[in-house]
Amino acid sequence: MYAERVLSGMRPTGSLHLGHYHGVLKNWVKLQHEYPCLFFVADWHALTTSYDDPRGIEKAAWEMVIDWLAAGVDPTKATLFVQSQVIEHAELHLLLSMMTPLGWLERVPTYKDQQQKLSTKDLSTYGFLGYPLLMSSDILIYRADKVPVGEDQVPHVEFTRELARRFNHMYGREPGFEDKAKEAVKKLGSKNARSFEHFRKRFQQEGDAGAIERAKALLDETPSLLLEDRERLLGYVEGTGKMILVEPGALLTEASKMPGLDGQKMSKSYNNTITLREDEASVVQKIRRMPTDPARVKRTDPGNPEKCPVWQLHEVYSDEPCKAWVQQGCRSAGIGCLECKQPVIDGILREQAPMRERAQTYLDNPGLVKDIIADGSAKARTLAQETMRDVREVMGLSYR
Ligand code: TRP
Ligand code: SF4
Repeated sequence: MYAERVLSGMRPTGSLHLGHYHGVLKNWVKLQHEYPCLFFVADWHALTTSYDDPRGIEKAAWEMVIDWLAAGVDPTKATLFVQSQVIEHAELHLLLSMMTPLGWLERVPTYKDQQQKLSTKDLSTYGFLGYPLLMSSDILIYRADKVPVGEDQVPHVEFTRELARRFNHMYGREPGFEDKAKEAVKKLGSKNARSFEHFRKRFQQEGDAGAIERAKALLDETPSLLLEDRERLLGYVEGTGKMILVEPGALLTEASKMPGLDGQKMSKSYNNTITLREDEASVVQKIRRMPTDPARVKRTDPGNPEKCPVWQLHEVYSDEPCKAWVQQGCRSAGIGCLECKQPVIDGILREQAPMRERAQTYLDNPGLVKDIIADGSAKARTLAQETMRDVREVMGLSYR
């Protein structure tokens, strides 16, 4: 058996921000101590939407990896790699495409949504339609059991589960399948069991399709047969192989509580971010300029923290005494807004200090980052090749 494996990927979008840190990265840092983890740069995924302008990908990829390392993702614990350096993903994508119903892809909710959202771009491409299938290949090639993703990606993991099920049904079977199938045969009653075995052999030795039909008819004569036994026997009579692809589960990443500078969700597209390693002076300036409760026009006007985005940052960065100080001071006009913002500034700078320090090592020596990715990609490739051997075999491609 294999150890439970965690896999997740991120498109190379360039510098990450504190929203990514509080949502995704802290979670990765935790997971790397609990499971064997694989984290990768989904650069092919970036091409599904920016195929017309691929120049930014390389820079964005390295910046993003440095941010992962800065956040505390540890390359001696987790395997970090770049998707396009493990070309086996592409082979699995191709092979799975043979058995993926077009309708499944068209029904993935992000397909039409994104096409509408990014309406300035022509996304009526083959690659864009196949995006969820590429993601399935990323997951299935490592036999990953757990896939930490945000809510928007959950349908893709569900799609992957269905695909693995279809694949295994078509080409594989569960562990202990043989024994379970034999037990199930007995449930047909001794006479039908004998006939069933007879038809099964006829089909497997002579490819007699009529024998399959007659074996199936025997199943219908046993209405008490459990559905799972019926499915086993259907696989048994057709003589499929072992379980090849593992059905993954989504590990829902809790949405980040980190608000943006305007109180909305922190997001590059809202232009309200603080980057992971943002310059200290810039952090100070951004927080100082943050809007506050609009009711506090003058210093002497009392305010309400519930109506102020700065309060949401206190929720992330401040301890209870500090939060009580804000509540009391704001409502009584006892403190000014700049005063109130200082503990937030301190909190952010304190959080960023070790990240900046870790990143500096890599910025001074970019070769280190390249080595980490080269090593990680080699490790990932070894795992991917194991799966591909099995997939090629059951898909009739292991001849030379
Ligand atoms: N599609 C994911 C996103 O846009 C990135 C991704 C690609 C991914 N392949 C993956 C995530 C495999 C988890 C597992 O966020
Ligand atoms: Fe917001 Fe603090 Fe000013 Fe109150 S005192 S309005 S919580 S910044």
